[in-house]
Amino acid sequence: MAKQENIIAPSILSADFARLGEEVDTVLSAGADWVHFDVMDNHYVPNLTIGPMVCDALRSYGITAPIDAHLMVKPVDSLIEDFAKAGATYITFHPEASDHVDRSLQLVKKNECKTGLVLNPSSPLGLLENCWDKLDMVLLMSVNPGFGGQNFIPSVIDKITRLRQMIDDKNLEIRLEVDGGIKLDNISEVAKAGADTFVSGSGIFGERNYQEVISKMRESLI
Ligand code: DX5
Ligand code: ZN
Repeated sequence: MAKQENIIAPSILSADFARLGEEVDTVLSAGADWVHFDVMDNHYVPNLTIGPMVCDALRSYGITAPIDAHLMVKPVDSLIEDFAKAGATYITFHPEASDHVDRSLQLVKKNECKTGLVLNPSSPLGLLENCWDKLDMVLLMSVNPGFGGQNFIPSVIDKITRLRQMIDDKNLEIRLEVDGGIKLDNISEVAKAGADTFVSGSGIFGERNYQEVISKMRESLI
């Protein structure tokens, strides 16, 4: 399967939470495709962020774009159901955070959301081995999860290349998303390695003009 259309997914972790609805509206009008929604539980990762009520609130506010819920929580199953009810489109989780990964993937599907497994920088691609038929997306972390504004870990480039090869060899329709430290100056390298879905938090919300940075990012994907 050839690489899918490029998606730019701003991480709202770096948005102004006091004006979240407005920020999401603005970034989508500026050309973003998805909303990347980082859920942290102060247990699986050290930080504590937002939950399903906020996802539901964005839907009620009128956000219709796909919401990409990245669960950095342990355990995952009850929150999968809550995020599905709250209107998430993709629900991704870290395999280390579920005792029964296949069951959790089935739960996402049963709730009519798209699935994804998230691999930390040190987690091997082998964790995907028995899951291919249940995956809509694989998310490779290019920072250790927990905080926005960290530096991209360069060794992840080789991992992206190897995952692209695996997806192509198997002829699968699976998105390859990368998350952490992506900015205008490195997005092209991430794309060339084989990613098709790009999360950027501080790289977008840290700029004054969202439209300018998003269109420059898109141009560097060509
Ligand atoms: C990290 C989060 C990322 C992060 C991205 O745990 O999953 O989505 O917020 O932010 P930047 O682009 O600033 O690294
Ligand atoms: Zn994320």
